[in-house]
Amino acid sequence: MESINVLYLALRPEADNAVSSLTQAMGPNVHVTSDTAEARKLLNNGKFHVGLIQFEPFDENFLRRIVGDIFYYPEGSSLQWVALVSSLSMENEVVCRLIAEYFYDYHTLPFDIDRLKVTLGHASGMAGVRKKVFPRTSEWFNKSELIGSSPAMMRVVHSIDKVLSYDLPVLITGESGTGKELAALAIHNHSPRSDGPFVAVNCAALPSNLIQSELFGYEKGAFTGANQRKLGLIEKAGGGTLFLDEAGELPLDLQANLLRFLQQKTIYRVGGHEEIAVDVRIISATHVDLEEAVRKGRFREDLYYRLNVLRVAMPPLRERGYDIELLAEYFLNSFKKENACKARQFNRRALKVMRHYNWPGNVRELKNRVERALVMCDDTHIAPADLGLEEYSPQPLTLSLKAVKDQAEKDILYRVLAQAGDSVVAAAQILGVSHVTLYRLIKKHDIKLQK
Ligand SMILES: Nc1ncnc2c1ncn2[C@@H]1O[C@H](COP(=O)(O)OP(=O)(O)OP(=O)(O)O)[C@@H](O)[C@H]1O
Ligand SMILES: [Mg+2]
Repeated sequence: MESINVLYLALRPEADNAVSSLTQAMGPNVHVTSDTAEARKLLNNGKFHVGLIQFEPFDENFLRRIVGDIFYYPEGSSLQWVALVSSLSMENEVVCRLIAEYFYDYHTLPFDIDRLKVTLGHASGMAGVRKKVFPRTSEWFNKSELIGSSPAMMRVVHSIDKVLSYDLPVLITGESGTGKELAALAIHNHSPRSDGPFVAVNCAALPSNLIQSELFGYEKGAFTGANQRKLGLIEKAGGGTLFLDEAGELPLDLQANLLRFLQQKTIYRVGGHEEIAVDVRIISATHVDLEEAVRKGRFREDLYYRLNVLRVAMPPLRERGYDIELLAEYFLNSFKKENACKARQFNRRALKVMRHYNWPGNVRELKNRVERALVMCDDTHIAPADLGLEEYSPQPLTLSLKAVKDQAEKDILYRVLAQAGDSVVAAAQILGVSHVTLYRLIKKHDIKLQK
């Protein structure tokens, strides 16, 4: 078997007997570290095929560092990860999600070194296949403002990788607030046109009587009030990119004019007779289903084919798994850089509700909720109520009376504890019970206090 370079990451490698059996079995190709930042640097040099992470002893801060230092960055995306985890840790929701989202495989402790060697071999094979399919690490992505490392987001990165190399129209689809404009900007900024202008036109916001002259410009005297020649947005985008946002909202008559421009690459200003050549790349975005609009006769089929040459689909936030947490932390830190606020981080319950919420307004909604919470929160930890989100209740309502009572008890404990900033004395006062009773209930429902 070809030698496999393994990066072994563990909180306390010196006390870890997996290390010695591994180095015995794999020879000098195992690099051991407990420092996630160092691990990230090592991954950058591309030497490793497989990463092995030991989750024991279980430590939430270590998990955070793994996500923040390693999974946050996509450079290592062709590398495959294998986890060593105890059956107890597999009951932890965060560990399970991490494994489901980022790992090729996992072994429960105590592990069998021969079986682990087979897994590492397969993982390394898969890393090779991924490298072939996704040959470049996407340097543009690290420089862009797009955050995320979920498989759904990696698909976006790979489709943007492809569209960067061709000077062809791109159609970006996705629900409202999924980052379509940010993606368009990233494409422009990392394309050969990046020195040219990026001109965004919101097709839904332009008044229909102005849209023609806004896009194509006008000549002096074209209509009353046209005192001098004005360049339209298409001409202003010359040498760069024209971003047609909400392209699905374009009125039909304008669709015909735009189609003419896309076919001929020339325009006439309103009231003008001179044919003007304009060199722009068109990126359009839509949250409406354009295929459906074509079927219903609201969107010209020929224009649709012109715009939809290359395609990038932005996934809804609810399909991006751990990215929700990454984005929430990112918005929290960006806001704190610019503004003074008391809150430093999210409490565990806030992270949990964010994970289970459906996010109809996607990333924009997440950003707004985080910023509002930072303004409103008087505590060091942001709670679900600050985000305007209800506690997540995983139980369906078809339960026994006892279970429903238990759930209600648990819900009220969560709410009151959040309100009281996890102070048991204050919460007991609100609930009208002794703090001994409250401690018993907290234990019964296995609620972990922040302080
Ligand atoms: N992956 C991401 N990383 C960081 N910020 C993001 C990401 N996606 C979106 N945002 C932020 O979320 C907000 C909404 O993004 P954007 O305006 O690009 O979405 P959109 O799809 O164009 O929305 P709409 O359909 O409502 O116009 C912006 O503030 C943007 O900076
Ligand atoms: Mg937009």
